Amino acid sequence: FTAQLDASEISKGTYPYYMLKEIDEQPAVMRRIVDAYLPADGSVSVDPALVQALDQADRLYIVAAGTSYHAGLVGARLFEEVAGLPAEAYLASEFGYHMPLLSQHPFFLLLSQSGETADSREVLVKVKKMGYPVLTMTNTAGSTLSREADYTMLLHAGPEIAVASTKAYTAQIGVQAVLAKALGMYRQQPAANDFALRHQLSIAAAGMQTLVDEKDQIKNLVGQYMPDQHDAFYIGRGADYPLSLEAALKLKEVSYVHTEGFAAGELKHGTIALISEDTPVLAFITDDATAAHTRSNLQETEARGAHTLSIVSEHLAEPTDNIVLPDVDPRLSALVGIIPAQLIAYYTALGKGLDVDKPRNLAKSVTVE
Ligand code: AGP
Repeated sequence: FTAQLDASEISKGTYPYYMLKEIDEQPAVMRRIVDAYLPADGSVSVDPALVQALDQADRLYIVAAGTSYHAGLVGARLFEEVAGLPAEAYLASEFGYHMPLLSQHPFFLLLSQSGETADSREVLVKVKKMGYPVLTMTNTAGSTLSREADYTMLLHAGPEIAVASTKAYTAQIGVQAVLAKALGMYRQQPAANDFALRHQLSIAAAGMQTLVDEKDQIKNLVGQYMPDQHDAFYIGRGADYPLSLEAALKLKEVSYVHTEGFAAGELKHGTIALISEDTPVLAFITDDATAAHTRSNLQETEARGAHTLSIVSEHLAEPTDNIVLPDVDPRLSALVGIIPAQLIAYYTALGKGLDVDKPRNLAKSVTVE
């Protein structure tokens, strides 16, 4: 399949690493998703048969691995809040063997950049045998998970070469938002009609562009902040919790810093015992309802010696905050929040002289269980 791509798409160009190129490509990918799925007339270009099939469902099971699972956690909230469809994300490697009690009319969404992940395919085979409908959202047309699903939606992200997934994560959130909007409109959900997705994704793309353009701010911050720590924590509440999980995976998989993503409210139930002098604790604060709580959680870690860093939405920012995120629709906050985290991972790994595109022990597509 790669052979069919033109050279420009799979060359690094002037970039030192594919990971940085792919981080930079994210605003353009978001704009491509808008062009592909959200015409200016306000309609949504999604297969009507898919929308009707999804409308028959009483619960959506989003199944994926790694970064795609983290994108599914964000997507689940979109399907619930925009389309009124109960939804939950599950780890493919668990779901395949320990399937929860299924609802009467389940619908399965497989998220997979490569479309070849064995854990995810295992689930597809099982649920297809049970006669349930399956949609695959993938970056790879013609991939196994795409061919074997009833429906496919493409990410339009272009080839993602770096092992650490970046643009596929933000693209999966964008395309899930498209499907949630399409279903919500079909069901005449007020939240869907109020969700001007074309406009909101365009605002998010502009915010992402600002952040990638200002990447030197992150580069300087990493120099003074993440010298060579063994442990690090990302914390957040609400939408900022799944974002923390993805931020942590990025840092750990390219820089080998043992990073955990935590629900900020959970710190006091054990994990704060791990905080010692200079442990980096990075907090996402984009969720209005819980911003004050997360700030106090961050201060609690600071009181125990942590070296804290706050990543805050503009309308919630205070003068002492370290990284300010352009304001976007709160349901899409992960699209901007993840950019600094991807750059923190990239510059930390670079600073340690590691091979950013090919981290040790990892493969781009895990085609074995
Ligand atoms: C993410 O940075 C990793 N490369 C890995 O977790 C990846 O997301 C996971 O293996 C799933 O891959 P897929 O999206 O191709 O199914």
